[in-house]
Amino acid sequence: TDLQPLKEVYADYFLIGNAVSISDLVGQRLDLLNMHHNLVTAENAMKPSYAYNTARQFDFQAQDELVNLIQQQDLALHGHVLIWHQQTAEWLHTSDDGLVLSREEALANLRKHVKTTVEHFGEQVISWDVVNEAMNDNPANPADWRASLRQSGWYQAIGADYIKEAFIAAQEVINENNWDISLYYNDYNDDNQNKAEAIYQMVKEINQEYAKEHNGEQLIDGIGMQGHYNLNTNPENVRLSLEKFISLGVEVGVTELDVTAGGEHAPTERELQAQAYLYARLFQLYREHAAHISRVTFWGLNDATSWRSAQNPLLFDRNLQAKPAYYAVIDPDRFI
Ligand code: G3I
Repeated sequence: TDLQPLKEVYADYFLIGNAVSISDLVGQRLDLLNMHHNLVTAENAMKPSYAYNTARQFDFQAQDELVNLIQQQDLALHGHVLIWHQQTAEWLHTSDDGLVLSREEALANLRKHVKTTVEHFGEQVISWDVVNEAMNDNPANPADWRASLRQSGWYQAIGADYIKEAFIAAQEVINENNWDISLYYNDYNDDNQNKAEAIYQMVKEINQEYAKEHNGEQLIDGIGMQGHYNLNTNPENVRLSLEKFISLGVEVGVTELDVTAGGEHAPTERELQAQAYLYARLFQLYREHAAHISRVTFWGLNDATSWRSAQNPLLFDRNLQAKPAYYAVIDPDRFI
């Protein structure tokens, strides 16, 4: 086709990523993936629940199958995810009778999980989401980031420092091997100013402490703004969060971008235009801050397979055809 490849349009700005499953790595879907992207994230395969067999032993077979296919393409890989409250083997932090493990046991499991996984994939990934979605959706008192944390199994067993411990475990493996892998904290509702403030406070404190203990070295390299937006999202709030995170001296990754429009019906022309307009505003913002943005990753190739499929959130429609949103991303200034 005569479409301009997104990855070429954005070559001087940041990487362009997408979320993939095995079924995306063949035929027309693979062609579209390769044409527009230079980075992928596994949409599900590299989540912690898939790292173990039923005997609770590490088993990376399914993950390796996907990673090997990706390695055959000209695509970098972002690791998603090491520590999360969802899609995780519960026994890592909770006993079979439903009681959280002791701090020592849970911490040992957390360290072993992080270290073994980071070691296993090595430099096949350029970066990892080390901790995902640790913060409450709309913290009441964001100045106190510990009080803003989700009461997950990991949190209940270990306490607020499970986050720093996870990053340290990953960093230790990277240092031992002299690898070049960036470590991210990743979360959604990133346009909510209370949540952004709590994340800011957390990353600031963890990085300041670590720097003191390690001759000024940085522990958390990046903040992932997932970017699961909708037509009510105000791009000025996205700007405030983005600039707040950048002020910490970390890189920002837009890690799971999509914008819902309409729902349970074919999108109307108005919805398609409104969606395209928000994409254009977002990409104007990303271009403006490109020096601090490492990648922009879309959360799915086309509307048919999105996790929010009914709301048509992506750049390509059910027949893999470019939507107005695609043209808005290609040339945001012209679109606006
Ligand atoms: O693989 C099983 C299949 O065997 C089974 O038959 C089927 C029946 O429901 O389920 C399949 O698993 C589903 C899995 O996706 C793979 O398709 C799960 O039910 C489903 O819950 C899971 O959804 C994923 C979701 O994370 C889980 O939390 C979505 O695909 C994925 O897009 C979504 O991604 C998350 C990011 O990881 C973190 N940020 C938010 C984002 C959106 O929720």
